[in-house]
Amino acid sequence: MAYQVLARKWRPHRFAELVGQTHVQRVLANALESGRLHHAYLFTGTRGVGKTTIARILAKSLNCEAKGVSAEPCGECAACVDVDNGCYADLIEVDAASRTKVEDTRDLLENVPYAPSRGHYKVYLIDEVHMLSISSFNALLKTLEEPPEHIKFLFATTDPQKLPATILSRCLQFNLKRLTVNQIETHLAHILTSENIVFDKAALGLLGKAADGSMRDALSLLDQAIAFAGGELGLTPVQEMLGSLDKSHVLGLLDALANKQGVDLIAEVQKIAEFNPNYADVLANLLQLLQQIALYQQVPTAIDREQGDFQAIADLAARLSPEQVQLFYQIALLGRSDLALAVDGKSGFEMVLLRMLAFLPCDPETISSPVSTPPVAVPAPTTAPAAARELPPPFEADMPPAPPPMGETTAPMQIDAQDPFAAVRAATGLPRKKKH
Ligand SMILES: Nc1ncnc2c1ncn2[C@@H]1O[C@H](COP(=O)(O)OP(=O)(O)OP(=O)(O)O)[C@@H](O)[C@H]1O
Ligand SMILES: [Mg+2]
Ligand SMILES: [Zn+2]
Repeated sequence: MAYQVLARKWRPHRFAELVGQTHVQRVLANALESGRLHHAYLFTGTRGVGKTTIARILAKSLNCEAKGVSAEPCGECAACVDVDNGCYADLIEVDAASRTKVEDTRDLLENVPYAPSRGHYKVYLIDEVHMLSISSFNALLKTLEEPPEHIKFLFATTDPQKLPATILSRCLQFNLKRLTVNQIETHLAHILTSENIVFDKAALGLLGKAADGSMRDALSLLDQAIAFAGGELGLTPVQEMLGSLDKSHVLGLLDALANKQGVDLIAEVQKIAEFNPNYADVLANLLQLLQQIALYQQVPTAIDREQGDFQAIADLAARLSPEQVQLFYQIALLGRSDLALAVDGKSGFEMVLLRMLAFLPCDPETISSPVSTPPVAVPAPTTAPAAARELPPPFEADMPPAPPPMGETTAPMQIDAQDPFAAVRAATGLPRKKKH
């Protein structure tokens, strides 16, 4: 049998197989069980979150030959099997993107008055419905308002704001949610286990993040990763495939910051630069890690002990104060928006980290101790002739004191306990957020 991509092979056939979207499932199940069915449903949400899938399950629920109208279609009768195989005569699937013209819509509506050929309902599933032309929408309005008893309209779109209000107000709208990294990770793990493929949990985490809320994207990436890895799905091949950095580098940055070691910090930046990464992504990783550390500091039980970097998070949470973590987070957040303005990604990224180092609050004793400046070279009394004495003082006298080596405890930036970010705002030129 020809290979079927995972996204198709694993398309849920029952509501219970869906990941997430429980808010939609519940309403639909209640409506189906109580027989209070609307005649037009609109499913909205980003790509690959289950719009078409839910619409097809609903079509089965309406037409199952074994169970009648129910929230749990049998999946085995001719109607269920045909819907799953995409050849059920009373499910008319239309891709609005390729049938935008009003003539197409009129053709479609011509068959509305006729009874379904086999099932209880004739179901029109119009995908990417926002692509219809204005005249197509107008042609649809009358039928959509009062369709015959045996007709159900199911619309799906990624772009509901492009739909006329007249259409929206005639439909029951369901907003499908983006799937969380956790939901995606769990689903991928379930699929890989069923497919007998050994995997590293951390690799699934990376795929889950890269999928950015879309289960279809996650499954396409998983297909690609399986082919790339050529066997066991380890972390390294997935990292290579996604061009993502090993988390250990980001941990290394925080380790250097916690030790106040500028030399180590820059060495870690250099290692990261060898990957030629997208620095906005690296900062995003840093932000994620800081969020986990902050969370661990306040609610340790909220962090999953099974996650690969648990020990490192716990360790950093003990070495950094909650204020430092907040400060780093804020600097990284602001730095992310500044990155585009920097001369190049690496220098912008480096500056963000150096800012963290520069703004590191020092130990309480050092904060209260006076700022020590290296002695400034003063010209020695001279016995030179008067003409020579009129020369400007030696050059060093005008120079600011040489900065101490990076990372050494030095003159601390005073952090105001009432407003710890004042110094950051001053350095970045951001106004203080108004309180509402
Ligand atoms: N909630 C979900 N639970 C489980 N699998 C899902 C879910 N959403 C999507 N998938 C997977 O992604 C594939 C595509 O889903 P679907 O066609 O329903 O997406 P869609 O929301 O209609 O996307 P598009 O806007 O691109 O048409 C499915 O075959 C299934 O494998
Ligand atoms: Mg779809
Ligand atoms: Zn059935």
